[in-house]
Amino acid sequence: METAEIRRRFIAHFEQRGHTPVPSAPLLVDDPNLLFVNAGMVPFKPYFLGQEATPYPRATSVQKCIRTPDIEDVGKTTRHGTFFEMCGNFSFGDYFKEGAIELAWDLVTKPVEDGGFGFEESRLWPSVLAGDDEALHLWMKVTGLPEKRIVKLGPKENYWSMGVPGPGGPCSEILYDRGPEYGPDADWDAMGTAMAPELEDRYLEFWNLVFMQEELSAVRSKEDFDILGPLPRKNIDTGMGLERVAYLLQGKQNMYEIDVMFPVIERAQELSGRRYGADAGDDVRLRVVADHVRSSLMLIGDGVTPGNEGRGYVLRRLMRRAIRSMRLLGVEDRVLPELLPVSRDKMGVTYTELHRDWDRISTVAYAEEDAFRATLRAGTQIFDLAAGEAKKAGSPTLSGERAFALHDTYGFPIDLTLEMASEQGLSVDEDGFRRLMGQQRDRAKADAKAKKAKHGDATAYREVADGLGQRVEFTGYDEVVSEGTVRGIVFGGGAVSTAHAGDEVELVLDRTPFYAEGGGQLADQGVIELGNGARVEVLDVQSPLTGLIVHQVRVLDGEISVGEAAQSLVDVERRRSISRAHTATHMVHKAFREALGDTATQAGSENAPGRFRFDFSATGSVPGSVLADVEARVNDLVLADLPVEAEIMTQKEAVASGAMALFGEKYGDQVRVVSVGDWARELCGGTHTGRSAQLGVVKLLGESSIGSGVRRVEALVGADAYRFLAREHVLVAQLSEALKARPEELPERVSDLVERLRAAEKEIESFRVTQLLAAAGRLASEADAVGEVAFVGHRADGADAGDVRRLALDVRGRLAPDRPGVVAIVGSANGKPSVVVAVNDAARSRGISANALVKAAATALGGRGGGKDDVAQGGGADTSKVEQALADVRAELARA
Ligand code: ALA
Repeated sequence: METAEIRRRFIAHFEQRGHTPVPSAPLLVDDPNLLFVNAGMVPFKPYFLGQEATPYPRATSVQKCIRTPDIEDVGKTTRHGTFFEMCGNFSFGDYFKEGAIELAWDLVTKPVEDGGFGFEESRLWPSVLAGDDEALHLWMKVTGLPEKRIVKLGPKENYWSMGVPGPGGPCSEILYDRGPEYGPDADWDAMGTAMAPELEDRYLEFWNLVFMQEELSAVRSKEDFDILGPLPRKNIDTGMGLERVAYLLQGKQNMYEIDVMFPVIERAQELSGRRYGADAGDDVRLRVVADHVRSSLMLIGDGVTPGNEGRGYVLRRLMRRAIRSMRLLGVEDRVLPELLPVSRDKMGVTYTELHRDWDRISTVAYAEEDAFRATLRAGTQIFDLAAGEAKKAGSPTLSGERAFALHDTYGFPIDLTLEMASEQGLSVDEDGFRRLMGQQRDRAKADAKAKKAKHGDATAYREVADGLGQRVEFTGYDEVVSEGTVRGIVFGGGAVSTAHAGDEVELVLDRTPFYAEGGGQLADQGVIELGNGARVEVLDVQSPLTGLIVHQVRVLDGEISVGEAAQSLVDVERRRSISRAHTATHMVHKAFREALGDTATQAGSENAPGRFRFDFSATGSVPGSVLADVEARVNDLVLADLPVEAEIMTQKEAVASGAMALFGEKYGDQVRVVSVGDWARELCGGTHTGRSAQLGVVKLLGESSIGSGVRRVEALVGADAYRFLAREHVLVAQLSEALKARPEELPERVSDLVERLRAAEKEIESFRVTQLLAAAGRLASEADAVGEVAFVGHRADGADAGDVRRLALDVRGRLAPDRPGVVAIVGSANGKPSVVVAVNDAARSRGISANALVKAAATALGGRGGGKDDVAQGGGADTSKVEQALADVRAELARA
């Protein structure tokens, strides 16, 4: 049965049983604790926690998920994939254990002809949390199986949580016995309540039914967590691994071999000439390729771009591992242009946006591959050098430091280093490497911890949010002054009830006009005045949890306490100036898409008072003429005084209206669409001006690259743009005055001047050399005698090393050739002395060496020198020792 059919049957089964089908949310999630959606329930979390009204009592979805903790295991075991799809059914206070068990059992055992999956009952083993007798008896009742067929497992397997604070509960898993080829018969009684690892491949868990009834405040491990209390209602959250069911129903060994993944392996086989199934090592590599190519595709599809931290780093790592695996399979050419389209054609059947956004996706992906190839080239050179050194030193081992430097500086993965080293008959000090990696990890961990501490403890926010019992009302779209009540104060990671003058705390109100940083827009600032006369200054505003707005404040005077009335006053100038920047960003985004095509999608932005930054995807640098056109277009539309309006509509209506849907939008049916006239329309939660003319003027400052495939434009708007232009105008006026030229003549005048300056410098240089050499004849004729030797010692202040050498050789050429002659010239330019000693043949035949003499001079100058017997040069640091240096050469010569 094809994956698409399994998906269809799942949704149909639950839709027929009263569940609302809900499309998959994007992989990016609006949750401070999660990098990606990692389970089907994530988009529904506010419903489970009772934070938001539930629009339906039952729902079903097939959710895109990414789990990366076991990235290293991908391909090695047959169960781990980074991207996967989770089929789920959810009950929000509707049915509970019995309903969930009935619904699941019905679907898995129903014959294929009747729309089910047709699994043989004899192969199915339900499991329950040891001690959950209610679940045990329900399973026996629903399935008719005897008690010994129900496996009892401990919390590691059968208590489910998100791995971070959130909802959780005991669960039941359905295991499928794949038969003795996959492992020994289970002796459940002897095993106790922890799943024996050797059974995991054989007794494959493919559906998890979570009886979600508690809220967890801390999760330290699968067995070690704190329960905050019961959820407002008893819920059901289930997750059936689509890939797992697919390989069971398709008679395949593992997820990499199913219909939507194997074509990538097939293409990789063609490219590499290796055959899947022939070599265990190659098989792992091929599976890594199949998994990572698909995950990268889906991540870029949802708007992630490769980078060095957070989500971007996960993506970069996946892409690099895929490319590297192909290299280890012997393919050195570009691989993504061959593999990514194969994955797109399979996944695009369900996720049609992969076709629609293909230009953007492929641009980002291919640029990253090119960047990595450049890294590999540089790293390979460094590797070859290190390998050469190790061999020369007679040591067949590459040091841990080298391997680490390759990894850290050149992004060279260790297994590539290992592979290349073994090709050259070298080993690598892996222990040393791992020690250094460990140290680096510790540093990173300490860093992350420090960051987390700064953000405060999510539990405290949770507590405040729960106390509030509703979302904070954001009034800032319509007002800049609002009345509200203090509903929570957070200090030092915990909720407190009061704070005093001088304290810096976090303050939560039930309603606020203060915009929390988000969607690229910086936070508002301002003042909050309390009913009792206390005042606080608002320094920053964040939204650490959906629906919660937290003001970071300093108490100016008085005492603030929970329950006080509060009047919030936003700094209006700052807000207006930020809003102008935000509207300008939308306009610039639209204008770039007009100029460069729809691939110029926004990749990030920052809207600050009077200025903004806009990042977008593009393959190369954007020509100056395009920037000028974009700027002109935007300013035309500023003058056109278009209305700027925000409307709430359904996601569907938004797409139909032509809104540019950005990625990472929080899942939800209602979205806010901001339009500038009929021209630029996008999903946005930010604040804007009322009309485009309020922007005044928009000035783009330039464009640069900030990573593979992403460009950044910085720009000014309103008064800041005007001030910038006015300043430039003054500069031009000053130049025009100084150069006695009209502004439009300035470029020509300046290039004229530069050219003349160059010619003059050349002339001076040749004059200087002539003059320098003119002294040569006189110096030669004034040679002293040191013993038998004609000696010229001369200080040439202002002469650099090149001049000194030229002069020394010229003087030597003028000395009588039959008499031993030595020339020592010490120059100094830019505060640095340099010395050259030149010795003629007659002197050399007496054993006088320029090399020995120059050392004496250089030592005096506080530096070093050396060279050959006939000419040697050196330098130093101390120009006050020039005479000393000459005297030392003379003394050395006298000794010789
Ligand atoms: N949320 C449950 C899981 O991810 C179903 O396994």
